[in-house]
Amino acid sequence: MSSNKTKVTVVGAGAVGASCAEYIAIKNFASEVVLLDIKEGFAEGKAMDLMQTASLNSFDTRIIGSTNDYTKTADSDICVITSGIPRKPGMTREELIGINAGIVKSVCESLIKHSPNTIIIVVSNPMDTMTYLAHQVTGLPKNRIIGMGGALDSARFKYRLAEALACPISDIDGMVIGGHSDKGMVPLTAHATRNSIKVSEFISDERLSQVKEDTKVGGATLTKLLGTSAWYAPGAAVSGLVQAIACDQKKMFPCSVLLEGEYGLSGLCIGVPVILGANGIEKIVEIKLSDAEKAHLLESAEGVKKTNALLA
Ligand code: 2OP
Repeated sequence: MSSNKTKVTVVGAGAVGASCAEYIAIKNFASEVVLLDIKEGFAEGKAMDLMQTASLNSFDTRIIGSTNDYTKTADSDICVITSGIPRKPGMTREELIGINAGIVKSVCESLIKHSPNTIIIVVSNPMDTMTYLAHQVTGLPKNRIIGMGGALDSARFKYRLAEALACPISDIDGMVIGGHSDKGMVPLTAHATRNSIKVSEFISDERLSQVKEDTKVGGATLTKLLGTSAWYAPGAAVSGLVQAIACDQKKMFPCSVLLEGEYGLSGLCIGVPVILGANGIEKIVEIKLSDAEKAHLLESAEGVKKTNALLA
């Protein structure tokens, strides 16, 4: 897939979808982004507004809006699903399943009809379960269905670590695996570093556990402040996955993927480190986890499976 010919569809022109389209355009690796929404004229308006930033942000990517006309999405290399309702303050992501499962199912059916060989990236919540649903609906091979949660959670983890260490975020590296849920995330504190030095050299265990807790409720914290789910960081996170695929970067991200024995888990989608490239998931990376990290991941998997069981 040559990056300058990549066609991307983003379903859902709400805050997350439009931010994702904007970041993709500004990175200027895709030829075309189709932004689709069910609300009459909404995606067309957002696309036109974004296109009017092209000369200001120096990008050539063409953004086209469509009111639910999936023929415009035909032969998309990558399809991002952001449609569905966002959380309200006090809600869990899992509580969205009743409405979002139906929406994600019909979106998957429409996308696959026009782009049978696409790579799907699921953002809609509860994301791990919606990713699992995408497998059931599309029948795409497992390397072509990716859930975006860990990339966002890791960005929030790095933000909190930089805050705790009072250092530039560019000095920090860290990863969050597990379910994309307030209780299910597994921030890998033992692996986190400041410029290759373990962060535990700089802050106390107590402060590190506070970072872990703040990371896990990162989404809920913003929903309380904003009255709805966040959109800038989710949009930026998913644009990074799209770029890694479109440009065949072979970059490693924590993504929600279908496990068939990896990490001792099967029959669910949950966040683990993967290499992303032109084929989507090029490889699932099995890293060494401490007994405590393994236990957290297993517990998180139980939670995801419980939500999966709510799918009709
Ligand atoms: C978040 O954590 C929307 O699930 C997304 O902000």
